[in-house]
Amino acid sequence: MLKNDLILRAARGEKTERTPVWLMRQAGRILPEYRAVRNSLSGFKELVETPELAAEVTIQPVDLLGVDAAIIFSDILVIPEAMGLTYEMVEKKGPHFPKTVKATSDIDALKVADPADLGYVYEAIQITKKELSGRVPLIGFAGAPWTIFSYMIEGGGSKTFSQARRLLYSEPAMADRLLDMITESTIGYLKQQVQAGADMLQVFDSWAGVLPPEHYSRFSLKYISKICDAITEVPITVFAKGAWWALSEMNDLKCRTVGLDWNMNPQEAREILPNKTLQGNLDPCALYGSNDLIKEETKKMLAAFGDHPHIANLGHGVYPDTDPDKVKYFIQSVKELSAH
Ligand code: CP3
Repeated sequence: MLKNDLILRAARGEKTERTPVWLMRQAGRILPEYRAVRNSLSGFKELVETPELAAEVTIQPVDLLGVDAAIIFSDILVIPEAMGLTYEMVEKKGPHFPKTVKATSDIDALKVADPADLGYVYEAIQITKKELSGRVPLIGFAGAPWTIFSYMIEGGGSKTFSQARRLLYSEPAMADRLLDMITESTIGYLKQQVQAGADMLQVFDSWAGVLPPEHYSRFSLKYISKICDAITEVPITVFAKGAWWALSEMNDLKCRTVGLDWNMNPQEAREILPNKTLQGNLDPCALYGSNDLIKEETKKMLAAFGDHPHIANLGHGVYPDTDPDKVKYFIQSVKELSAH
């Protein structure tokens, strides 16, 4: 049914005729076509919650950039919202939670998300699958429990995440209780995404890098591991930004693919993770360079992954002010340079 299943085969560890490529945050502000849809609406949330439009912007990068996978247009913050903490997306600033978790009583007021609460995401997945008609696989996603926890405590982004990290020392039982609820919510949510048609899944642990290694195992990997154990239906990718020290432990996760950021060394990761497919890891800033530079950096990246099963990507999401032509050039370069 799928006309291009390169990414699924690479995720399973199979040899492919070339390296598949997609970009984290490909569906979004780099494309004028996205901004046109977005500007016709009241805001980000209306786009996320209107399945036809979410499907439209999910498919844009497939049409316009030539990526080997689509990722459903949504946000990791729909989970805290379904648990009872509403988020706002503040123009040019990012997410903001008017109410945050400060005490045990705030957790009492939350619930494990009912998968039915996120019907708009599943509907967007169903529409996208239909409109893609097998051109490329569709990736579903969620935030890792630790990253979601950070937003629920901090109420938004943070330089230090000191309030979220403080809780791990001062109230570990309370932290575990909230992390458990997020994990349970996430498992139900990801399973429903698969049910709706997601061909593979990615868990984003965007704030992994702020934790000390011991806390990372204890408060993040433990919960990611529960998610990976529960999802047996499709291949799952774990991307833990900044957690280079945790790669060896990630070898024990029941995930197929591990995402690398640009601080991580692919050659080392190949040895540490012999049985995992690796994803990444070009520095998103390389896309500010000339075409020649992009090609050169892409060549170096591909060589660093060698013959290890690999899904080409950036080391984190593409930056909003990146020229879409440079993104296209990167994608084209991966396709050309990896063909054999
Ligand atoms: O293309 C895709 O990857 C699919 C859509 C997607 C969005 N958010 C849309 C979005 C995905 C996978 C996410 C995940 C997400 N959201 C993460 C994990 C990935 C990462 O980058 O580490 C995180 C940490 C968030 C939380 C979030 N949402 C932030 C911090 C912001 C504001 C800053 C930013 O990065 O854009 C958002 C808003 C957001 N999510 C936008 C988009 C397209 C921009 C909003 C707009 O259109 O104005």
